[in-house]
Amino acid sequence: MRLYHVNTGMNVQAPAKINLGLEVLRRRPDGYHDVNTIYAAVDLCDEVELRPRPDGEIVCRVEGNERLANEPAEENLCVRAARALRSTLEIEAGLTIDLRKRIPAGAGLGGGSSDAAAILRGAPSCWGRAASPDALLSLAAQLGSDVPFFLGNGLAHATSRGEVLRPLDLALPWAVLLVNPGIHISTPEAYGAVNRTGERPASDLSDAVRRGIDDPSSLRGTIVNDFENPIFARYPLLKEIKNRLYEGGAFLALMSGSGSTLFGLFPKRMDAEAARSGFAECWTHVAGFMAPRPFALD
Ligand code: C5P
Repeated sequence: MRLYHVNTGMNVQAPAKINLGLEVLRRRPDGYHDVNTIYAAVDLCDEVELRPRPDGEIVCRVEGNERLANEPAEENLCVRAARALRSTLEIEAGLTIDLRKRIPAGAGLGGGSSDAAAILRGAPSCWGRAASPDALLSLAAQLGSDVPFFLGNGLAHATSRGEVLRPLDLALPWAVLLVNPGIHISTPEAYGAVNRTGERPASDLSDAVRRGIDDPSSLRGTIVNDFENPIFARYPLLKEIKNRLYEGGAFLALMSGSGSTLFGLFPKRMDAEAARSGFAECWTHVAGFMAPRPFALD
């Protein structure tokens, strides 16, 4: 996460993620599901500008997403992150959050979780305080299952409900074409649609991705997203987008998270750009993977 200081404030880049495989292993007694996935940060970023406020208020202004801009403050994950952090740090400080959204919401790209992590990452120094990595990770896991990943190195194998992370030290050389047709999918509904009654074995996703670096064609069919079948049954357009990504030359086409974004992996940026023209009616973005960085909280 890149940080730079602007007067007394700072600007934090909040990247999107895609899931390189997502297996829903079992339903847990607490209502969550154990998953097996690889999160990979890509260089499509929301911009989060933070400035301390003397009046003790926490105010979030959103640009680029009308639904979020009109959401009550109590529901805004950035505001919730700032309030939770302030209470952990036992301070009264205020914060202005200017959030410029570029990552589509409800799209399986983790935008809201990444924005919340950007607050946890940036606000302590904005307030002239330090928070321990453990305290931040624990707050992150309370805010959402995807949030801890965005405090980390940008590429990680995740288990439990997504918050138990093992960083992977791999550079992924591919270009990513993101395609989103504007369908909003709710995560709890998507888990319900998977309807996992028994238990599903976990694959070795890290090994599959490692092998994919030498042989990208090995990824197709090896790496799956368990949300695809039930979500494709409800939204056949998403299945069509996946097929079109393969027709456009992707060596892997997969849904990210619980959807609705599909991504295609291509050897080179120009291949992804060429395939992009086939999706004129959708939101599209060509991204690269973020270079793995040392654990961001160290
Ligand atoms: O953790 P998060 O707040 O993002 O989860 C939203 C909802 O998605 C949960 O309340 C739960 O219904 C579902 N979920 C799940 N298993 C996970 C993550 C989320 O069932 N691993």
